[in-house]
Amino acid sequence: MVEADGTTGGLPDELRRRLVLALDFDDSVLAMRWALRMRGIFGVTKVGLELWSAAGPSTVAELVGQGFHVFLDLKLADIPNTTYRAARVLGALGARYLTVHASAGEASVMAGVEGFAEGAEQAGLPRPAVLGVTVLTSEKEPPAGLVAERARLCAEAGCGGIVCAASDLAVAKPAAPSLLTVVPGIRLAGGSTHDQGRSATPAAAVRAGADLLVVGRAVTAADDPERAAEAVVADLLAGLGRN
Ligand code: C5P
Repeated sequence: MVEADGTTGGLPDELRRRLVLALDFDDSVLAMRWALRMRGIFGVTKVGLELWSAAGPSTVAELVGQGFHVFLDLKLADIPNTTYRAARVLGALGARYLTVHASAGEASVMAGVEGFAEGAEQAGLPRPAVLGVTVLTSEKEPPAGLVAERARLCAEAGCGGIVCAASDLAVAKPAAPSLLTVVPGIRLAGGSTHDQGRSATPAAAVRAGADLLVVGRAVTAADDPERAAEAVVADLLAGLGRN
């Protein structure tokens, strides 16, 4: 699937845009190498706090320039005015997705949605989506009702999607049926779960209704990353009934 030139393995864009590679590195050169190495399979790259702290806006610009959809996983959770102003700057960078913590409250999430859309609009870019983080997947079991409550808050605040564990989808989707669902904590069967409390295989996640799958160490810490990425695709296709 990943060709020698690192460009394309023929995975249709419709699937590449559902596979998010978590670039959890502290070095933009290394992050870009991983992005290009996996571009045949992953059409979305996620810049989290680590890479953002190390390299920030220039990495986003580079990834956008390489044709990736960029997912800024900065998990904003500040007062509404600060969230709005930060999100507006981030929207102008060309990121497609930005995470905001639902726990920050509806006014803050709404401010993030407004700021992110405004920044993109001012830069002449398509409307991007704020993803509300419901409950971190490193937490083992969220209190009953919390995921649904936060998913509803995200829908009411105008988010384009939510981030939740695969095991939360059964309650999250009915609470916010029109939102994209983004699921981290993806692991291949038999692989290490690392610090993820509620992991799922690609097939299980899409069967449960996940739209985008966030994959990090299952590929980047694998002994053979190409083989692991291909296993992610095979499992995804099995989950979609397309194998
Ligand atoms: O390496 P691994 O697949 O566990 O990476 C998961 C990625 O998804 C990390 O970048 C982590 O910050 C992110 N994430 C998460 N749980 C959430 C939201 C984001 O694990 N609820």
